[in-house]
Amino acid sequence: MNQEKLYNDIIDNFQKLKYALLDAQTFSQEHYGFPPIYYKIMETDEVRVNAYKRTFAHFNNLKGKVVCEAGVGTLALTKHFLPYVKKAYLIENNPDLTDFIKAELKKNGWEDKVELIIGDAMKVKLPEKVDFVIGELMSIYCANEYQVQIFKHLRKFLKPDGKLIPEKIINTVQLGNALFEEGHTHYPILFTRHWPELLSSQEVLNTIDLYKASRFNIKKTTTLKAHLSGTANCIYMNSLVQLTEGINFTGTDSLMPPTVKLLEKPVDLKMGTRVKLHSNFTYGTNLDMAKFYL
Ligand SMILES: C[S@@+](CC[C@H](N)C(=O)[O-])C[C@H]1O[C@@H](n2cnc3c(N)ncnc32)[C@H](O)[C@@H]1O
Repeated sequence: MNQEKLYNDIIDNFQKLKYALLDAQTFSQEHYGFPPIYYKIMETDEVRVNAYKRTFAHFNNLKGKVVCEAGVGTLALTKHFLPYVKKAYLIENNPDLTDFIKAELKKNGWEDKVELIIGDAMKVKLPEKVDFVIGELMSIYCANEYQVQIFKHLRKFLKPDGKLIPEKIINTVQLGNALFEEGHTHYPILFTRHWPELLSSQEVLNTIDLYKASRFNIKKTTTLKAHLSGTANCIYMNSLVQLTEGINFTGTDSLMPPTVKLLEKPVDLKMGTRVKLHSNFTYGTNLDMAKFYL
C-alpha cells in the first residue's frame, strides 16, 4: 500500500479512532486482562521496548542476577534479559497467555532457570530475595493498573542493594478544553488533533517513589497559572517514568499515553491568574472514578 493511500485511509478514520486506544487498553473480563491487540501495540513500540533494553544494558544485562518480573505479557521485555540472568521468577495473571509463554520458554531453552507463576503478583511469595524487580504494569497516573500495589508487595523480596525497574513516576497536569462525546470522561491521545486546547502551565501533581510508596489514595491541591483565557473543562495528564536515573520513558500510544480527563465542572480562566486544582484518585481503580475540580 503506498504511503499516500495509507495516510488517506487514516484521515478518513481519525474521528472513528478517537477512542480506539481507550478500547484496546481497557481491562476486559472476557480476556482476563487486555485484548490481544494491546499486546501487539506494546510489542511493536520501539520507544517503549528500547527504554527497557537500555536499562538492562546499563545493568550489564542483569548477567548472573536473580530477577522477578511481574506482568510479563508476551515476554516483550523479558526476552531481552532472560538469556543472561541466573534465575527468573516470571509472573502473569492472564491465563490466555500461558501456552504462549511456555512455548517461548521451551523454544529458547530458558525453562530450567525460569519459575513461571500464573497468578496475581500481589499475592506471590518468592522463595528467595532477588536482585531486580521489574514490572511494566503502568497506566497513566497508575490510576488503572496495580503498579504501585504490586511493587509495594514485591519490594519485600528485594535484596538490600536490589533495584526496582522502574523506580519513579512523576505525574504532571495542565488545564485545557476538549470535546468529549456522550458517555466518555477520559481518553488517551492517539492523534494530536484530539489534544485539548491547552490553557495553563504544566505542573507536577505528584511523584511516586516506588521504593517507598505505601498509600494508594492521592488527594492533592496543585496551583496552575492560566497562560490563556478560556473555559477549562479537562486536565491533560502525563506520566514521566524514570526506569533508572538517566533512562526514562515519558509515554507513547502504547503505554501511559498523554490522557485527557473531564473536570467535575467547567471553569472560566482569566489569562495571567492562578487557580487551584483539587485531585482525588486511587491507584489501581479506574480513571472514570477519579475526581479533578477547580
Ligand atoms: C501493560 S502489560 C505489559 C506486558 C509486558 N510486560 C510488556 O511490557 O509487553 C501488563 C501485563 O501485566 C499483567 N498483569 C496485570 N495485573 C497483574 C497482576 N496483578 N499480577 C500479574 N500480572 C498482572 C497483564 O495481564 C498484562 O499482561
